[in-house]
Amino acid sequence: MFQFKLVLLGDSSVGKSSIVHRFVKDSFDDFRESTIGAAFLSQTIKIRDTSSDSTEDTVIKFEIWDTAGQERYKSLAPMYYRNANAALVVYDITQQDSLSKAQNWVNELKNKVGDEDLIICLLGNKLDLCDSSDNGDKRAVMTDEAKVYAEEQDLLFYEVSAKTGQGVKDVFQSIGEKLYQI
Ligand code: GTP
Ligand code: MG
Repeated sequence: MFQFKLVLLGDSSVGKSSIVHRFVKDSFDDFRESTIGAAFLSQTIKIRDTSSDSTEDTVIKFEIWDTAGQERYKSLAPMYYRNANAALVVYDITQQDSLSKAQNWVNELKNKVGDEDLIICLLGNKLDLCDSSDNGDKRAVMTDEAKVYAEEQDLLFYEVSAKTGQGVKDVFQSIGEKLYQI
């Protein structure tokens, strides 16, 4: 079995834990408590191997470190991103400031880990608050702004909603496929 280490980074309350819980448990909590230190979860996915004639799927296991976004835990982050195969850097689409925080994390990762060894994925969360006519559009970060930045920095980029689940599985699936190919 293939095993990969994943780390989630980003400002407090952008929805890192909610994304992980959606992926691992397929559940969502409107009142999730802020993470203390970090949390560890794991999940497997199946990858279809298109390079061989075999019809058997390959199982990939993700070991996921969900870090705490509060400032006071910032110094712990290197423990979790060290040796990671992929980093999911999360911002909240409704909070412009959270994108700058995400960009700081991208810089730190590139300086400390080097991007040859690490897949970095920029994730805009809370998409449900942006395209629903009931709530009004709370979007503060335009898709193009984040997308252009991600392209410049050579990052994967997705907008997701942990609340509805939109896009969440696709993110882990494409990261898994990418890691498997390396
Ligand atoms: P820290 O652990 O403090 O770093 O925060 P976090 O990034 O883990 O955020 P968390 O997952 O705890 O979510 C913060 C709040 O945002 C919670 O009240 C969630 O219910 C809410 N939330 C998370 N994801 C979404 C989403 O996709 N849509 C909406 N509407 N709310 C969300
Ligand atoms: Mg959390």
